Amino acid sequence: MTEVPEYLLERSRQRRIALGVLADDGSGDGGGSAAGSATAAATPAAGPTQAQMIAAARESAQLEAEPEAPPDPLWVISARRRHRIPIWVLPVLFCLPLWAFVYVQLTEPPPEPITALNEGATTYAVRCASCHGGDGSGSDGGLVGRPLWNGEVLLTFPSLGESFLEWLAVGSEGIGLGQVYGDPNRPGGARVSGGSSNAAAMPAFGDVLNEHQLYAVARYVREVIGGEDISDEAAADRDARWEQLGGGTPADMGGGGH
Ligand code: HEC
Repeated sequence: MTEVPEYLLERSRQRRIALGVLADDGSGDGGGSAAGSATAAATPAAGPTQAQMIAAARESAQLEAEPEAPPDPLWVISARRRHRIPIWVLPVLFCLPLWAFVYVQLTEPPPEPITALNEGATTYAVRCASCHGGDGSGSDGGLVGRPLWNGEVLLTFPSLGESFLEWLAVGSEGIGLGQVYGDPNRPGGARVSGGSSNAAAMPAFGDVLNEHQLYAVARYVREVIGGEDISDEAAADRDARWEQLGGGTPADMGGGGH
């Protein structure tokens, strides 16, 4: 433990007496007694009283409590000086959704170009699948029409010629019930109109489908359902024929018939 020297304690005491914080009780140490009592006598008169000091402190504290308002920071000044949003922004914002709509419309890829085969697929789904099945199974699948799949249709009609297109256009009754249609030398026997096991008739489509629609569905039945294998040149020739009949024109995009 360190001992605070006696003379330091005394100096501190004198100081506090001088400030009026401590009353002099005359306990000054013997050595400095003359000076001590002199100071003690002078203190109450000369020095500020405790109350005065507190008041002074309050006053200065109050002065400090109301500092001059600091200047606005730079960004506040520049924000005040900045120009307001101009009025023409309003109509521009208003038109923005319209612009976005037009923009999307213009940048969207154009609809897939219609081809003979996808026109034929649509027609088949709408006009033929109910009796022949989506896959061409027909009576093999318990439906009314003859089977067209597994090359069956190619056996009856070896080529995409007039007789095939005529069959689709006029149907069983147009050919005449009991009449042979298609290849008379068909493997397994020639087909006879109205001669299927259920004696059902194939409807005529010449009035409901136009020429290119008949041609397109004929291609679909042969190439997709019947599995006909044709060269690229033959396919190109058929595309040209389909276009010649009016297929693929923007005015006639519907594939389902009229
Ligand atoms: C109402 C049912 C029905 C609809 C719809 C129908 N068919 Fe048929 N289809 C038949 C029947 C029944 C036969 C057999 C005709 C017969 O025996 O006289 C047949 C036969 C055929 C044949 C001959 C097959 C063969 O080997 O003998 C082809 C090709 C054919 N249909 C294609 C089509 C196409 C293409 C469509 C649509 C545009 C279509 N059919 C719509 C009932 C239908």
